[in-house]
Amino acid sequence: MIVCSCMIITDQDIEAALIDVLNRPDAPIPTPGIVFRHLSKRMNCCGCAPVAVETIYDKVGELERRGLIAATVSATARSKLLEFNAWRDRLRGKERAAAACDSSPEATREIA
Ligand code: FES
Repeated sequence: MIVCSCMIITDQDIEAALIDVLNRPDAPIPTPGIVFRHLSKRMNCCGCAPVAVETIYDKVGELERRGLIAATVSATARSKLLEFNAWRDRLRGKERAAAACDSSPEATREIA
C-alpha cells in the first residue's frame, strides 16, 4: 500500500525502516520525520502525515507481535506516537484558529 504518494513510500518501506530504527540502542520516537529521514526522503506536501502516523502505530504493534522489536520499545513508541499525534492535532487547531482570526471580518475591518 502506498502511504506517501509524493515520495512513493509504501507500508513495507515503513516497516523495514521501523525494524532498523527501533532496534537501535538509542531508538528515537518513530515519527514520520524520523522514518522518512531513515528512508532518505523528505515530506513534501505533508498530506500523508495522518496516514503515516497511523501506519507507523499499527506497524509497531505488528512488529512486536512478530518478535521483531522488543515489547518495551513498542509500548514506548506507541505511547509517544499518541502524544505526537495529540500535539500535532493541537498545533493544527491553533493554526486553523489563527487562520480564521486573520481572515475574519473583524480582523479585515481593523486592517482597513
Ligand atoms: S503525500 Fe507524503 S509528502 Fe505528500
